[in-house]
Amino acid sequence: MALGEGCPQAYAPLEELMRRRLGRDCLYVPSCRLGLYVALRHWCPPGGRVLMSPVNDDVIFFVVLAAGLRPVQAPLRADDGTIDTTAVPDSVWDGLSAVLTTNLYGNPDPAPELRARCDRLGIPLLEDAAHAIGTVVAGRPVGSFGDASVFSLSKHTGAGTGGFLTVADPAAREELARARDELLTPSRLSAELVHGLRPYAEAAVRGLRLTGAARAALRLLGFEERTDIRMALRPEELARALAPTPSLDAFDSWVRVDMHSYRLVPGRVGSRRTQRLLLRLDERLAAHLAGTQRLLDTPWAAPRPGPAQPLFRVPLLVEDRDAAAAALARHRITVGHLYDPPLDVYAGDRFTDASPAPSAAAWFARHALPVDPLQADRVAAVLDRSGVRPARPPGAASVRVPTRIPANVLRDPPRVRRSPR
Ligand SMILES: Cc1ncc(COP(=O)(O)O)c(C=O)c1O
Repeated sequence: MALGEGCPQAYAPLEELMRRRLGRDCLYVPSCRLGLYVALRHWCPPGGRVLMSPVNDDVIFFVVLAAGLRPVQAPLRADDGTIDTTAVPDSVWDGLSAVLTTNLYGNPDPAPELRARCDRLGIPLLEDAAHAIGTVVAGRPVGSFGDASVFSLSKHTGAGTGGFLTVADPAAREELARARDELLTPSRLSAELVHGLRPYAEAAVRGLRLTGAARAALRLLGFEERTDIRMALRPEELARALAPTPSLDAFDSWVRVDMHSYRLVPGRVGSRRTQRLLLRLDERLAAHLAGTQRLLDTPWAAPRPGPAQPLFRVPLLVEDRDAAAAALARHRITVGHLYDPPLDVYAGDRFTDASPAPSAAAWFARHALPVDPLQADRVAAVLDRSGVRPARPPGAASVRVPTRIPANVLRDPPRVRRSPR
């Protein structure tokens, strides 16, 4: 099944929009996870070892396993959850086949350093830029450093589907397109309908204040498979999936979580809507940047050097994360996706190499409260009113005393809003 068969030419304009944005060749993929799988298979030898972030979506962990690779968990910085290159021992660097960045919530991993390190080691750098479509590091966009980088159109863009696999070497494009097409499954009318109608259904349900019932219905349809932050590992089944040559089919029940359409040939309805949304991306990024700036000015934000970025979610640092999330939930504000515990704790050494220095990642995973910058004022008002206490990583400078939020903001009741994961 080739991507063009479902709707000829439908995806070329999307690829061109992204090529202009990034200055690189881009290949449309139905999801970031599928693009990552294609990239890992293309650039890494079977059985290779991939350095990745343990504070990451478990779906990506299963994508690495499905590609026949061994995840190696990296040490992270406690203040923003990015990879701490200084804490990776030489013995770990020397055994790697690739480095996969995460750019968690949009904060950039140290791409220039990782690029230089990968060049010295002669291994590929692959960038997961799902959360970081508007982030710049060292004057260049995230996604322009790796041999390949993969974006998700389900995050800032809000398309709920789609992504791009981008490559440094245009010569690789044709082979990658073939690999992508071999993995696609035919478009289903039901998926197209769900895709087209979902935003309207969600808006209607929000208006009727039936969010709980709607979510139960979505769960029945297979859209919500998590009963906890992390999906069930199912270790015995996982070991069986790994036993022969791993493949995407064997890992489908883990990789599809939160997005059953991750490898469906996209249809016409989706491509037109995605194009409209992509054309408005700069507007969305400006709103994310403004909200991020507002949140970085609150006592719950970790101080950051350099200019603010249009983060997908702003990871505030709070003493009691669950209590803070519950306070926001009482005002019907949904917290962004949590990645707690880190993947090495979640999966154990049967399935991954543990981080050589895990404590900072564990601290960040426990204290990070990722909030939507588009709701900055409401979030700040609720946290202030609820007396949520900021936290600082062990050894960091002491926290600022919370400033009071202006009374007019506190009086303004939080709006109901669901945003993409
Ligand atoms: C860090 C990260 N990378 C990749 C993905 C996968 O993106 P997609 O849903 O487009 O496959 C996610 C999913 O939410 C994610 O959080």
